[in-house]
Amino acid sequence: MNRIIAMLALTTIASCAWAAGNADRGAEKAKQACAACHGADGNAPLQPEYPRIAGQHGDYLYKALRDYKSGARKDAIMGSQAATLSRQEMQDLAAYFSGQNGSLGVIR
Ligand code: HEC
Repeated sequence: MNRIIAMLALTTIASCAWAAGNADRGAEKAKQACAACHGADGNAPLQPEYPRIAGQHGDYLYKALRDYKSGARKDAIMGSQAATLSRQEMQDLAAYFSGQNGSLGVIR
């Protein structure tokens, strides 16, 4: 019984958009600031070396943005993109992109 409850709880958590941010505000910001390089929903990067960010975990996206801003993760392009983002904007963007269906998959 406990196992069933735990599984239900995990399923619920996994299907929620990342809770810390507001995905609607994130969508607006993404249109202005991110779509040109990552695609509107994070699935259509402009260059093959630009990552697909749709469907990635919200915590990961938020951490990546924080690290670019702090300099813990160094990249000239993303460093300048993240420099002006507030904590709230990063959370909103993480909520938006984590809620998109990622087009990457592993075929075994
Ligand atoms: C001018 C092009 C450009 C713009 C605009 C841009 N990005 Fe990026 N983004 C990149 C590139 C290039 C990388 C790969 C950097 C690296 O190797 O660390 C990247 C990496 C990332 C990553 C790390 C992905 C991973 O798998 O580790 C995240 C998250 C991200 N971008 C989010 C955003 C968000 C959110 C915005 C809008 C605020 C944005 N980017 C705007 C080009 C861009």
